Amino acid sequence: GLDISELLPQTGRVTLDPGFGNTAACTSEITYIDGDAGVLLYRGYPIEELAEGSSFLEVSYLLIYGELPSREQLDQFTDRIGRHSMLHEDLRRFFDGFPRDAHPMAVLSSAVSALSTFYQDSLDPFDPEHVEASTIRLMAKVPTIASYAYKKSIGQPLLYPDNSLEYVSNFLRMTFGVPAETYQSDPVLSRALDVLFVLHADHEQNCSTSTVRLVGSSQANLFTSVSAGIDALSGPLHGGANQAVLEMLEQIRQEGGDVASFVRRVKDREAGARLMGFGHRVYKNYDPRAKIVKQAAQDVLARLSQSDQLLDLAMELEEVALKDDFFVSRKLYPNVDFYTGLIYRAMGFPAKMFTALFAIGRLPGWIAQWREMIDDPATRIGRPRQVYVGPQRRPYQPLEKRG
Ligand code: ACO
Repeated sequence: GLDISELLPQTGRVTLDPGFGNTAACTSEITYIDGDAGVLLYRGYPIEELAEGSSFLEVSYLLIYGELPSREQLDQFTDRIGRHSMLHEDLRRFFDGFPRDAHPMAVLSSAVSALSTFYQDSLDPFDPEHVEASTIRLMAKVPTIASYAYKKSIGQPLLYPDNSLEYVSNFLRMTFGVPAETYQSDPVLSRALDVLFVLHADHEQNCSTSTVRLVGSSQANLFTSVSAGIDALSGPLHGGANQAVLEMLEQIRQEGGDVASFVRRVKDREAGARLMGFGHRVYKNYDPRAKIVKQAAQDVLARLSQSDQLLDLAMELEEVALKDDFFVSRKLYPNVDFYTGLIYRAMGFPAKMFTALFAIGRLPGWIAQWREMIDDPATRIGRPRQVYVGPQRRPYQPLEKRG
């Protein structure tokens, strides 16, 4: 065995903290979470009030620029985003190259990375004008790219954005509209999706946001940093959980709807089963976003006059889990993703698109955090340390002498 203390004189003291459970990598003024009390504030404003009173673009402005916009500031921001929502025709052709069953998150990340090849306005990725232009371009183009990823997967022609519509309705039209047919957006559904985007807009130093900051700390540009964030978000323990929840509920239904026996399997850790959509690194109480989403799920399904067996199963699962000592003792509560998939599904999105919706929502948070990082004089290139536990120095054997 290696005596780790031998390393200390060279490396100084290091803290071993897998998963960064207790290590802060930056200071931030953007988002505050009190995980024990179930509190979430963006720039000091409670998430409940923002979800009730503000649109997604207002909240995006708040996160990126630090203050809620005046009417004039909001109109300008909306107008600038509207003027950048089209994709370059050459970028549009990229979509022909992906296989039809490509996962939308992989398409989204590739296309966002490719944006950096189209917009090389400045050699300095931190040039304020370039940062501002990239901010607007990302906010404008990511929904277009996400809807194209979907259209491509179902073999339908792509629709150009209609910038007379507001942000979310425009996205819904590009996703569900068919060329040469008029698309009637439903204000209740647009509003519900807008609220979901607000709830996802930032969540301080989660896995994807930390990735955006880490990549950006090498002075990589905003497009490539966000593209890396999209990749980090795609995993089932992070943004991919919303798709995983739906698949889990579907599996329970197909196996006869026996919630209690599924919970037993999770507790027995059968085949690594987890209750997807439950638990959170920071919330050790009910996720305040999950409360709002649960209500929205009930409203949207009522609006669509759909009764949903999967919603009933989800509510039953929650009830069983919250009474069970396994979950209570580990402080496992529903997180934001437990009910979102049910709403997306009722709106007509296939499960594969759910995480792309999360990415649209999280985009202003990634941008705000990247901008805060580059403006912070304390920023250094991200470079975690390690504790080496491999072999000590040993004699080299030439190939002929190896057995
Ligand atoms: N189902 C069953 N058991 C769980 C779950 C779950 N969903 N989550 C945690 N546990 C258990 C663990 O097995 C562990 O038990 P042990 O102490 O007996 O070994 C204990 O609770 C602590 O769990 P950790 O894995 O240490 O918690 P961590 O903070 O590392 O993970 C995470 C948090 C990844 C969210 C986890 O709760 C999980 O996998 N949940 C399911 C996936 C999910 O919903 N992800 C979305 C997260 S929110 C987001 O990205 C928006």
